[in-house]
Amino acid sequence: MARIKIVEVGPRDGLQNEKVLISTDTKVELVERLIAAGVTHIEAASFVSPRWVPQMADSAEVMRRVPRPAGVRYLALTPNLQGLDAALAAGVHEVAVFGSASEAFSRRNINCSIAESLERFRPVLARARDEGLKVRGYVSCAVACPYEGAIAPEAAAEVALRLHQMGCHEIAMSDTIGRGTPGTVCAMLAACLKHLPAAHLAGHYHDTFGSALANIEASIGMGLGTFDSSVAGLGGCPYAEGATGNVASEAVVARLQELGHDTGIDLTRLREAGAFIRHALLTAPRR
Ligand code: HMG
Ligand code: MG
Repeated sequence: MARIKIVEVGPRDGLQNEKVLISTDTKVELVERLIAAGVTHIEAASFVSPRWVPQMADSAEVMRRVPRPAGVRYLALTPNLQGLDAALAAGVHEVAVFGSASEAFSRRNINCSIAESLERFRPVLARARDEGLKVRGYVSCAVACPYEGAIAPEAAAEVALRLHQMGCHEIAMSDTIGRGTPGTVCAMLAACLKHLPAAHLAGHYHDTFGSALANIEASIGMGLGTFDSSVAGLGGCPYAEGATGNVASEAVVARLQELGHDTGIDLTRLREAGAFIRHALLTAPRR
């Protein structure tokens, strides 16, 4: 069976929406524990406006303090050149621009239309290329939007294609509010696969309605080999009310093991990392 790449987004997508104040120490220890579990791709920072997402305001400090063993790659969100500059200074290995297949979500999340967002990403990609940094692209609301409802598969595929043409090496098709089912996710992926190969696609599925694991299995059937998940199932999105966490990394690794796929991740140590962050959240002061 194939090796599946897991991108651990807990330290970013998982924590960004938490109402409690999470210390930099806790964020760094979470990353250390994830590394001890064998996680190699970690989205640990987000260089966005601290007014929009206060929880991520210490991203530069987190990146300064996390360990840097060989083989571990750190990712960070960078919506614009200001974010990219901060990410470069912080020494991340890969950055990510985040667009949307829904106009309404694009406005709420990054304060511009889809077309404007793609224009803003262009210089980010050009500068990242000059600096030798890989860029990931997200397509939020690839299946459904909290404001617009169902999203046409072709609309998601169109944004994915544009990001790919701009130079994103991997496009994370995101079920932001967890409404996707194997049927709707496969329809969306089939539209994407008309334009770009499965090797350039990743699945980023929130688990609001408990169908993320089934969506991952269906996506593997469509040829995908990269999935995002969040330790302890942490997360949500500040601009998608009611969206719960990403699919839990522990559940993904366990299910993939059952299916005979290798992730390189030690499930026992991953569960310990999950217990650590759950306890830290329960005992942290409210913001
Ligand atoms: P804006 O207000 O349109 O931007 O926000 P602006 O260029 O007019 O700047 C306004 C202020 O923000 C200025 O500060 C800038 O300096 C500052 P002021 O002069 O008012 O003091 N600013 C920044 N500060 C730090 N870092 C930056 C930065 N850029 C501007 N990079 C902007 C536009 C994109 C900045 C804003 O809308 C924003 O930060 N949005 C963040 C949204 C976000 O982080 N959402 C959550 C992550 S996306 C997600 O979770 C979905 C995903 O998981 C996939 C899925 O599940 O769907 C990826
Ligand atoms: Mg997300």
